[in-house]
Amino acid sequence: MPLVATGEIVGAAARAGLGAGAFNVIQIEHAQAIVAGAEAAGAPVILQISENAVRYHGALAAIGRATVEVARAARVPVAVHLDHATGPELVREAVDLGFGSVMFDASALDYDGNVAATAEVAAGCHAHGVWVEAELGEVGGKDGVHAPGARTDPAEAAAYVSATGVDALAVAVGTSHAMVVKAAVVDLPLVAALRAAVPVPLVLHGSSGVPESDLTRAVEAGLTKVNIATHLNVAYTRAIRDHLAGHPEVVDPRKYVAAARDAVAREVTRLLKLVRATP
Ligand code: G3H
Ligand code: ZN
Repeated sequence: MPLVATGEIVGAAARAGLGAGAFNVIQIEHAQAIVAGAEAAGAPVILQISENAVRYHGALAAIGRATVEVARAARVPVAVHLDHATGPELVREAVDLGFGSVMFDASALDYDGNVAATAEVAAGCHAHGVWVEAELGEVGGKDGVHAPGARTDPAEAAAYVSATGVDALAVAVGTSHAMVVKAAVVDLPLVAALRAAVPVPLVLHGSSGVPESDLTRAVEAGLTKVNIATHLNVAYTRAIRDHLAGHPEVVDPRKYVAAARDAVAREVTRLLKLVRATP
């Protein structure tokens, strides 16, 4: 199955009223695990690399190329996406590497600044056939400070999409990034109001903090792309801790990283089933 365009996966999910799972890649093993989990679920999936992960590696090229190659070898449709890019240079690099989409995150700017910067990036990406997600109404937690109170206004969101030409919109509806407890409350009436007002698919960020049954409800209410990172990090790290505790003699990282990769694959299969549960 070839690497596919992100818009194909998200568009098909939106038309069917299903969620499209988008999971963050830090190391190559995450890409392998996410694809294995999607293959087990028989579902398409989006691999995304955040600007923070790029900072960890020191550059996008190596992890980006590896992720694209893992996607190309998959037995289900897989798209590769740049997540939370705050500068146009990284966006250009992702486009050159063959990513199908980017999220340009100018949500820390005021409304006019966000519109101007995002419209410029969107025009440049569209000239290369690349799908663009942007954010309005900053979802908290990116700096470690949880701010589940932020909300995106439906009328402003509709105006923003028309002014920027973006293909999908990340909205603030009660979640916050990097939560390790499932205590976020998704504002479902707001999701429905945004769905009615905004003509492009909506994206849920900070999904790790959402109780699992609410993930299905959030999709039913109108969210399509569901971004999950921290939940996988919890599974990955727990598997390594457990493996090392049970095998104190182990020194070969392949032993415990393989255990973590398997754990992440199982979680991806389960989460994809939750976001793709038929209403
Ligand atoms: O962009 C990535 C996501 O919004 C992931 O958030 O780490 O809270 O699941 P999370
Ligand atoms: Zn996010």
